[in-house]
Amino acid sequence: METIRTIAWMKEKAKEARLEQRVIGFVPTMGALHAGHMALVERAKKECSPVYASIFLNPKQFGPREDLSKYPRPIEADTAKLEAAKIDGLFLPDAAEMYPPGFSTYVQVEGLSERLEGKSRPGHFRGVTTVVLKLLEIVQPHFAYFGRKDAQQARMVQRMVRDLNVDTEIVLCPIVREADGLAMSSRNVYLHAEERKAATVLSRALRAAAREMGSGVRDALQLQQAMHKVLAGEPRARVDYAEIVDAEMFEPLVRVGRRSYAVVAVFIGKTRLIDNLLIEAKGEELRTEL
Ligand code: PAF
Repeated sequence: METIRTIAWMKEKAKEARLEQRVIGFVPTMGALHAGHMALVERAKKECSPVYASIFLNPKQFGPREDLSKYPRPIEADTAKLEAAKIDGLFLPDAAEMYPPGFSTYVQVEGLSERLEGKSRPGHFRGVTTVVLKLLEIVQPHFAYFGRKDAQQARMVQRMVRDLNVDTEIVLCPIVREADGLAMSSRNVYLHAEERKAATVLSRALRAAAREMGSGVRDALQLQQAMHKVLAGEPRARVDYAEIVDAEMFEPLVRVGRRSYAVVAVFIGKTRLIDNLLIEAKGEELRTEL
């Protein structure tokens, strides 16, 4: 696996692959790789060759009071995992390469970037879409793989790609969970033993909503109440939001729609975790996927 640190060299490799009519797959990450990331890599490997991953801890998507300085950076372990997965290259730029002095252009998806995660973390999505557009320009992938845990992020990137005519298809991949239901996240390492147990409350709340839907409930308020009831039962949990939204615009719904999400964001101690349940309606039937 080649480690590529400059934009010029990464663009050269991409140009070569496109000239040879090969299908470039790309997995953008901020490092601290877990099984969720590796599932994206495996999917990319099935569908593309060459496959590139990037590790770039993007400072522009962290707020001033967020966890940039303490975000885990196990670069040797990460590199070993990607080597073992036999990808073609790791794009590993530093901050000066991505944001040279004078950098002043940003991309923002209006509306979608202002709700839920965008409301709780002002500026976060502007940082995400800006860096993702840069990465797509640099790596030139035909397919880029995103995890459904960050469903709103993935939806926003899809919107951006469509709006700005980027020649990349965004592939949304299932959430990978620990055995007890906790969605894999690089932030899970912040949780101490008691918090780690408490953190299962997110998926338990989503399951409660799924159960209600299974027994015929379609009213969003009732589903929200079912989630809040479970969340309130965990003293270490402080709820940021627990809502039913449509899967396109992430607007609150009165009744579950054809394609919706139940989304939760919860602080466990100082760690903010998110999770979601995908809801798809086929006629009167509902299918939910945790
Ligand atoms: O989901 C992430 O890890 C990041 O937001 C991404 C997409 C790599 C952009 O920095």
